[in-house]
This record gives sequence, C-alpha cells and structure tokens, in this order.
Amino acid sequence: MIISENAVVIKQRANKVVYRDGDRIIKVFNDVKPASDVFNEALNTARVAEAGIRVSEPLEVSQVENGDHAGSWALANRYVPGKSLYSAWMDNPDGFDGYLGQLIGLQLEVQGFRAPLLNRQKDKLNRMISNTRGIIDATTRYDLHIRVEGMQEDESVCHGDLIPSNVIVGDDGQLYLCDWAHVTAGLPEVDAAMTYLLFSIKHPDNAELYLKRYCERADVARQAILRWMPVIAAAELSRGRKRNEEFLKSWVDVYGGE
Ligand SMILES: Nc1ncnc2c1ncn2[C@@H]1O[C@H](COP(=O)(O)OP(=O)(O)OP(=O)(O)O)[C@@H](O)[C@H]1O
Ligand SMILES: [Mg+2]
Repeated sequence: MIISENAVVIKQRANKVVYRDGDRIIKVFNDVKPASDVFNEALNTARVAEAGIRVSEPLEVSQVENGDHAGSWALANRYVPGKSLYSAWMDNPDGFDGYLGQLIGLQLEVQGFRAPLLNRQKDKLNRMISNTRGIIDATTRYDLHIRVEGMQEDESVCHGDLIPSNVIVGDDGQLYLCDWAHVTAGLPEVDAAMTYLLFSIKHPDNAELYLKRYCERADVARQAILRWMPVIAAAELSRGRKRNEEFLKSWVDVYGGE
C-alpha cells in the first residue's frame, strides 16, 4: 500500500507506528513482526464483523511501497470519526464512572456474540503458558495447564485487550472496538480477568472499580474472574517484555498459595 505524505502519526511504539491517512487507519509493523500475525489480525476483525459486531472494517493487508517503511507489513482499517474512550476520560476525569459503564456494557455486548471460527482461547493460553519456559518453572506451568484444561467450554467472543484506548466513541454516538489482534472464542470470565490485569498495570487506581462493576453487571462472582489471574499473568509473561515482569510473577505465585 501507499502511505500518503499527509498521513498523521497517532501512536508510535517500538514495534509499530499507527497512522491516520484520510479515511484509513494504517498500522505499520517492524520487520520482526511475522506476516501471519498481521493477516491474523485482519482475519479476526473480518470474522467478528461477520458475527455482527460493530468494528471498523479491515481494508487491506500489504507491504508498504513508499517512504521510510517500504517493505514493512501494514494493516489498513476504516477510520471511525470520534475519539477513544481513553481520550474522553482524560479530557473529563470526573466522568470515569460513566466511561467505565460504557466499557463494561460494550464488553458484555461483545461477549454475547458467538464466533466459533475464531482462535480458541484454551489453545492460545496453553501455547502461551508453554512459551514461559525459563520464566515460570515446570511445576507451576503444569498446574497452569491443568487449570486451563479444566476450563468449561464456551465460544463467547473475548476481545482479549479490552481497555479504554481500544474503544472509539464514534461521532455517530456508537461505540466501536479496535485492535482485534488478541480476540478468541472462549470464556468471558477470562476476558474480564485480562481487562482487570490491564487496568492493574495501566490504571491501577481504577482496577478494583472495574472488577466490582463487571461482577455486578455480569452477575458473576469475583472469584470466578480472579481464579484466572495466574493463567492470564503467565500468558502476559510469555510475551517476554521485561516491563511488569515482577508484578506479573507475583500474580502467578498467588496460585501456589491457593
Ligand atoms: N478505526 C479506527 N478509527 C479511529 N481511530 C482508531 C481506529 N483504530 C485505531 N484508532 C486509534 O488509534 C489508536 C491505536 O490503534 P490500536 O489500538 O489498533 O493500536 P495499538 O498499537 O495496538 O494500541 P495499544 O497497544 O495501545 O492498544 C487507538 O487507541 C485509537 O485511538
Ligand atoms: Mg490499541
């Protein structure tokens, strides 16, 4: 694809740059990113859209043809006019309660869809736990695998990265979810555990309130979510990022104390 000279950088990370280019959002990945991951994100987005979920539709996956990124893999999605729930919250911190309600409402709505063709949450978690060799000892990994194997069967759509920055409040008044790289078909409580973990890392002062409100709205026990924290923390550790390693390990250790 061609990225125009007028494209504006929205986000810059070590492994990618996100641009707005007219009516497209273009994510350009670095050379280390396997092409299969980029196609997988586009396929996931197309699958959830076909399941009936409101998303910004994927437009193109291809290598950039011009400029500094020539040769890098990129994913283009339709730009949704609006602002992220995170920006809305930062602009109006007192409104957090309302934004949290919107986030949880959207999460429950999405979890209400079934998309059996998505990657299976159980398989993904088992793969990620296996990848923590050298970070988590074999005995703990074994226990984590047993816990995942015992998970009840479910095919709910679990976004897997549902945080305020991934929710767009459209100018049309609708909420849109972006960033479908981690979506799976699985158990909603695991998805809630993931959001709770992400809040604990990114917005620690608000994590408890998220958990409380999710449990109330979903009519689910706290324990039904917290029991997945060691598994979710192990999955995060498998990404090999050094940041938050001790925090994540402390969640995995909770398992031994149960
Ligand atoms: N289709 C879209 N329309 C409008 N804005 C978008 C769209 N897709 C993404 N954005 C904006 O760009 C930002 C980055 O996009 P995205 O979340 O997909 O990338 P990311 O690098 O994975 O970010 P993070 O890791 O923080 O979740 C989002 O937080 C959102 O504000
Ligand atoms: Mg994102």
